[in-house]
Amino acid sequence: MADKRPRTALFFDSGIGGLSVLREARVLMPDWHFVYVADDAAFPYGAWEEDALRGHITELFAVLLTQYRPSLSVIACNTASTLAIDHLRKVFPGETFVGTVPAIKPAAERTRSGLVSVLATPGTVKREYTRELIRQYGSKCHVRLVGSNNLAAMAETYMRGEMIDEEEVRREIAPCFMEKDGRRTDIVVLACTHYPFLVNRFRKTAPWPVDWIDTSEAIARRAKSLAGDMETLPVRPNEPDLAVFTSGHPAPEILRLMQGFGLTPVSLETSADPVHP
Ligand code: DGL
Repeated sequence: MADKRPRTALFFDSGIGGLSVLREARVLMPDWHFVYVADDAAFPYGAWEEDALRGHITELFAVLLTQYRPSLSVIACNTASTLAIDHLRKVFPGETFVGTVPAIKPAAERTRSGLVSVLATPGTVKREYTRELIRQYGSKCHVRLVGSNNLAAMAETYMRGEMIDEEEVRREIAPCFMEKDGRRTDIVVLACTHYPFLVNRFRKTAPWPVDWIDTSEAIARRAKSLAGDMETLPVRPNEPDLAVFTSGHPAPEILRLMQGFGLTPVSLETSADPVHP
């Protein structure tokens, strides 16, 4: 019989974006232990060249899987999932991965106007994976891909408690809004896990109201359903949930944010030692 693993779920993103998924999962999986990994040394993923990023993520996972032995790994990042989820499953066949990919199927099912936009990083917009989702599910509507160079970094700024420029938000989301033959875009897919943190800003600066589709809860439900079938070792009493930073030195505001989420910040190299603000 295979060794039982700890009841640990690892959540992975380039920065703070995956917290939008983690906060949902913690509600649904209260008896699990969580390790949140922010690859902040490599942020932003949206600007990376594909082969280099795939190689980088694979190498990092080799370390993370050995160090934390999670029963479940959630790639809480569209930019990483659309590029590397199939590859990770191939390279680490004994592992369970949950991916995060643009919610094109639900958007295509729900739209009334037939005009849908997908707001994502430039990386996610370029991916063959994303284009295939549109071919598969979005052929009956008009799907516009909108790649933003700045919104993920703006979400980081916002979550550090700093001001962000409303005009810049307006400019970044403006291409999502189409008008065609008297119809208007009625759904925008938030296809980057950083963006749910900015959704109130988006609502405020949008030229007209739309549904903003956020997949965080659906991903958390998928993780819970896979977790339900697993034989795992119970969490040790008082085991803290962790926030791991690949840079080893995140900004003090980010450390406080992690603590606000109930996560104990640690750096990857010395993960036993907490990082102090
Ligand atoms: N949070 C990531 C995503 O869901 C992207 C942020 C970045 O560019 O690193 O796509």
